[in-house]
Amino acid sequence: MALLPFDGISLGCDYNPEQWPPSVWREDVELMREAGVGFVTLGVFSWALLQPGPDRYDFGWFDEVLGLLHDGGIAVDMATATAAPPPWLTHAHPEMLPVDAEGRTLWPGSRQSWCPSSPVFRDHALRLVEQLANRYGSHPAVRLWHVSNELGCHIGKYWCDVSAAAFRRWLADRYGTVDALNDAWGTAFWSQHYSSFDEVLPPRITPAVPNPTHELDFARFSSDALLDYYRAERDVLRRLTPDVPVTTNLMVSSHQSEQDYFRWAPELDLIAQDHYLDARLAHPRAEQAFTDDLTRGVAGGAAWLLMESATSAVNWQPVNVAKRPGELLVDSLRHVARGADGVAFFQWRASRAGGEKFHSALVPHAGRDSQRFREVVGLGDALRRIGEVAGSRVKADVALLFDWNSWWACDLGSHPTGELRYVDAVHRWHRAVTELGATADVVHPESDLAGYRLVIVPTLYLASDATAAALDAYVRAGGQMLVTYFSGIVDERDHIRLGGYPGAFRELLGVRAEEFAPLPPGQTVALDDGSTADLWTEVLTAPDAEVVARYTDGPLPGTPALTRRAVGEGVAWYLATRLDDAATAALADRLTRDAGVTRLAGAQPGVELVRRGHHLFVLNRSHDPVKVPARGLDLLTGERVGGTVDVPAGGAAVVREEET
Ligand code: GAL
Repeated sequence: MALLPFDGISLGCDYNPEQWPPSVWREDVELMREAGVGFVTLGVFSWALLQPGPDRYDFGWFDEVLGLLHDGGIAVDMATATAAPPPWLTHAHPEMLPVDAEGRTLWPGSRQSWCPSSPVFRDHALRLVEQLANRYGSHPAVRLWHVSNELGCHIGKYWCDVSAAAFRRWLADRYGTVDALNDAWGTAFWSQHYSSFDEVLPPRITPAVPNPTHELDFARFSSDALLDYYRAERDVLRRLTPDVPVTTNLMVSSHQSEQDYFRWAPELDLIAQDHYLDARLAHPRAEQAFTDDLTRGVAGGAAWLLMESATSAVNWQPVNVAKRPGELLVDSLRHVARGADGVAFFQWRASRAGGEKFHSALVPHAGRDSQRFREVVGLGDALRRIGEVAGSRVKADVALLFDWNSWWACDLGSHPTGELRYVDAVHRWHRAVTELGATADVVHPESDLAGYRLVIVPTLYLASDATAAALDAYVRAGGQMLVTYFSGIVDERDHIRLGGYPGAFRELLGVRAEEFAPLPPGQTVALDDGSTADLWTEVLTAPDAEVVARYTDGPLPGTPALTRRAVGEGVAWYLATRLDDAATAALADRLTRDAGVTRLAGAQPGVELVRRGHHLFVLNRSHDPVKVPARGLDLLTGERVGGTVDVPAGGAAVVREEET
């Protein structure tokens, strides 16, 4: 991964000057300087104005904006402007419009009305990219290319005929012969045998449960189709402007599961990520910390760029919660603590018209004379003070395995319970570890695990042979590992691993389940160590493992719920149920202690500690001031810290630590 093309820890934003008259642009640049904005993403939704007709371009206004930004010392992340096609294009070529699973066309009138496999869309989009690359690729302000925008944001899967043909080509590449496809999809079931690839459709709505491997492959294809489109734009940019790095803003989040970003990462010169807090969740900040750690995992541990977030409320949740004073700073520092080298926002100036006019911005409707803008200026100052953090790495002793393929397969229908959500299972463990002051890298199951003291494998329903072998080797070499319920159940084709659950890990864990016994919503079970659990139990035996806890009630009293097996130099734990928060925390406490995981003193729910390079980040979301052990210099206040740092309620510290 390339280093970020902006200096220090930069402050950035989407800049949409076309929404404002030129008289405002000058004031924009002045205010950007006041706020310490280091870069802007320009032109994301400018296609219709940059190219008012098939053979007409109007770059004059764009030249002027770029000139103003450059004169103001503001760098540009230049969008390729292809995210929202102009009406003249969709009008002339309705065949490029997306179609959903029910066969409904998604019409123009908002944005993203295009299909990534459409040749006509691609042709027009790539022509625009070429124009922009030729005209601006060597402009001194332009430091980064930003392909399209949140590829797959509103629609991640496409069911149109053009996509159906692309899906068939993708399948032919993957399987070679239709017999191999029949085998992988288990089409002997329900008379689904195909005689030719031509008979295969995208999984459009069906009378009963669709073939799950068909769905899984369509999910893989859909991620690849958008990636392929990204590559097409990137290749034009690389050919014409080889010195300017290329990225696109990913959406690593808990709402969005449609792109396998571990596959995307090698194609990007740097990882850029968008994150919006979701007030609908029980623990929105814990979800932010999780996606930050996953983004770092996608970046292979390198620094990444937060390309979009909100200074306050968004406008697309049922109730759009505003940030309280101080939250903008602490939320932004959370991204930096977990590996971001830049914090950017959607958008510079709050729109006065259009579908996002109630979305927060750096300059709110109230203008410069506002608490929000003053906080933005404060944030710019804080990021400047901590600039030396840029490029450093987060140190994590824990690896949490995560896989989009497993997510897609786990959350398909017709499973033992419809109540299980993969991401909830992963979050629960991430939060428990974080609240103890430990840091987890969220990584792909086939990553190199050698450096980690503890590996947690939450509900990894789909696991490859390579994953099973790697975990076996990790434990034998001295690693400590926890696997939780409904893991290792199927292979990459979503075929059950026979002989007893959890097939892929059964021998390593020394356990064997013959049946699942999920619990109805609201029902809990007690364990003989005092824990409470819900959602899931299994008819489990432990032929080759120590039983640590058993159920005392529920459908399986006396049955093992938690087991532990010493293997080689290491230890493999199995948890066959979903523990509640307190019991999850207690088990995380034991595991991290046993494994010798570094836990930063002072961490507790509401007080987050992360060490990045030689810097200790203390984020205090609690309602009380806290004292945290530290020695060095608090970069935010400029004050020496000689043993403990005092952090006010809702405040933060970034301490450059002294060697002790
Ligand atoms: C993002 C998108 C931005 C803006 C923002 C609002 O998904 O990339 O253009 O719409 O959401 O939260």
